[in-house]
Amino acid sequence: MSTATASDANKASTLLFSPFRLRDVTFPNRIVIAPMQMYKAAPDGRATDWHFQHLAKYAIGGAGTVMTEGLIIDPIGRNTYGDLGLWDDAQVAPLRRIVDFLHGEGVVAAAQLHHAGPKSSRQRPWEGLNSLTEVEAARGEVPWTPVSSTTTGSVSHWRAPRALTVEEIAALVEAYGQGARRANEAGFDVIDVHAAHGYLIHSFLSPVANKRDDAYGGDLAGRMRFALEIAESIRRHWPQGKPLFFRISCVDWRKDLDDRSDGWTIEDSCVLARELSARGVDLIDCSSGGIRAENSMMDYAKQRRKLQRGHQVPYAEQIRRDTGVPTMAVGVILDGPQAEAILQKGQADLIAIGREALTDPHWALHAAQALGTDPDWEKWPPSYGWWLQLRERIGVEG
Ligand SMILES: Cc1cc2nc3c(=O)[nH]c(=O)nc-3n(C[C@H](O)[C@H](O)[C@H](O)COP(=O)(O)O)c2cc1C
Repeated sequence: MSTATASDANKASTLLFSPFRLRDVTFPNRIVIAPMQMYKAAPDGRATDWHFQHLAKYAIGGAGTVMTEGLIIDPIGRNTYGDLGLWDDAQVAPLRRIVDFLHGEGVVAAAQLHHAGPKSSRQRPWEGLNSLTEVEAARGEVPWTPVSSTTTGSVSHWRAPRALTVEEIAALVEAYGQGARRANEAGFDVIDVHAAHGYLIHSFLSPVANKRDDAYGGDLAGRMRFALEIAESIRRHWPQGKPLFFRISCVDWRKDLDDRSDGWTIEDSCVLARELSARGVDLIDCSSGGIRAENSMMDYAKQRRKLQRGHQVPYAEQIRRDTGVPTMAVGVILDGPQAEAILQKGQADLIAIGREALTDPHWALHAAQALGTDPDWEKWPPSYGWWLQLRERIGVEG
């Protein structure tokens, strides 16, 4: 027997608001709040009320999945002293409080695991994002030497990193596994591994940074080894029923966003996606760039260059098409119709929203209205929606 009501007939059917399933997890819609570092952790790396309200508001705002910022799996891999940690069991409880809230709202909770590698030991963005100096040291934020695949690192104006030894690589592979164990203890449903943006794992993948001559460098197989061992390690500690994502830089920007002439290529990304998939990775989260300081977003801002809407979507499309591995698109996806079109064209399975969610925590609910799937404000929490639909029915004059 059909349970459709008269008002259902007026509701547009969309992919953006259709469920998606991976392993035992059903994503209630296709909208994911992108990982966004707040640089607001307690000094011991624990989450605070700031993080609670920051993430909880997106659950109220209708996103199907809320992802944490990068949670650091080893303190030497902190980007800044404000990074959230998941290197210590004591860091689990405040994250569990956030996860419990998300689950209470029917939202999927995703944790990003992160190690900043050569981009560690830095100032917060609004302090300059340069290497820590004696100014920060004087207030207790003492610099340290970052680690990377190689000393001839990816970055030019930051403190030179030192190359990890093979023993240290093995310890980090296990640290990712322990991070996954803690993420499970906190109740998270999904893990996303941050392997993009010039951070540690990307510093191994990209020939721009990785000049090692041992088993973790050289050809593509060597440069992928660290990432693949991390996937295997996480799968040993992460329940089989829970999905695992990898965020990669699908291409290295060299001179600019459109120059894909060398460095890590989209073809390399397709090879990596297949190898990760064979090791239990379920989805590729498709970003780009970040391996060279000179080609950063900040550089774009200085040059007053504009970003194209959805500039990374073609990468998500190609990986999905060529490998069959599901993908998530991210980057300058601004509104519901744009997100829906990406899904309709088969370019991605999930849509991550970053900065637009910062300006509008109810982005998902506004997208539903723009797409005509929620004419009666029924997707809104009733505490808000009941009043808003009433005001709309009454109308406002003047
Ligand atoms: C404040 C802020 C913090 C970010 N922190 C992270 C992070 O922790 N991990 C990550 O993978 N990307 C991070 N990003 C990148 C976003 O996840 C996203 O890929 C990027 O902002 C592009 O999407 P957008 O155009 O929707 O903002 C951050 C972006 C912002 C704006």
